Amino acid sequence: MAGYVHFNASPNCLPAPEELPIAVATLLKPLGEALPQVVRWFTRWCHLDPDEPHVHLGPIGVAPDLQGRGVGTALMQRYVEHLEQEKTAGYLETDRPENVEFYKKFGFIVRHQEPLIGTPTWYMWRTRDESFKQAAEQDS
Ligand SMILES: CC(C)(COP(=O)(O)OP(=O)(O)OC[C@H]1O[C@@H](n2cnc3c(N)ncnc32)[C@H](O)[C@@H]1OP(=O)(O)O)[C@@H](O)C(=O)NCCC(=O)NCCS
Repeated sequence: MAGYVHFNASPNCLPAPEELPIAVATLLKPLGEALPQVVRWFTRWCHLDPDEPHVHLGPIGVAPDLQGRGVGTALMQRYVEHLEQEKTAGYLETDRPENVEFYKKFGFIVRHQEPLIGTPTWYMWRTRDESFKQAAEQDS
């Protein structure tokens, strides 16, 4: 496998706050001492998740030895095509400054930025209008 992309439509794109304790007790248990940090990080993501309808990106990843050859671009194009078909907004979080530039190539802008568990974090948004605009250009 060269790469992987996953995206999910709101409002069920992240677990509901009441589901977090169950996840902590089961899926996340192997994280051990890192668990409180991960819960703080994920709770903040859930809190900031936009109320406006959107399709949430994540995770996306390309095998390390295949990065820089266009696989990530192809995966993002698949996601953006979906946004344009659905005429909806896109949303994602990243803690890598180089990825902020990567996502900007696909029409995302930084909506909010803050440190989270000691790491700068960017919350990025691709407007619904952007999806309408691109879809209209393809139709013309
Ligand atoms: C981010 C990622 C998915 C991009 O996939 P990729 O296959 O390497 O990207 P591409 O080869 O399609 O590159 C697209 C463009 O973005 C640039 N770019 C991509 N990743 C970059 C990086 N980490 N640093 C700097 N530039 C990067 C490329 O130089 C290229 O620019 P160009 O179009 O001007 O040539 C991949 O690097 C990755 O899996 N990184 C590790 C996991 C990760 O960060 N996931 C996302 C978490 S938010």
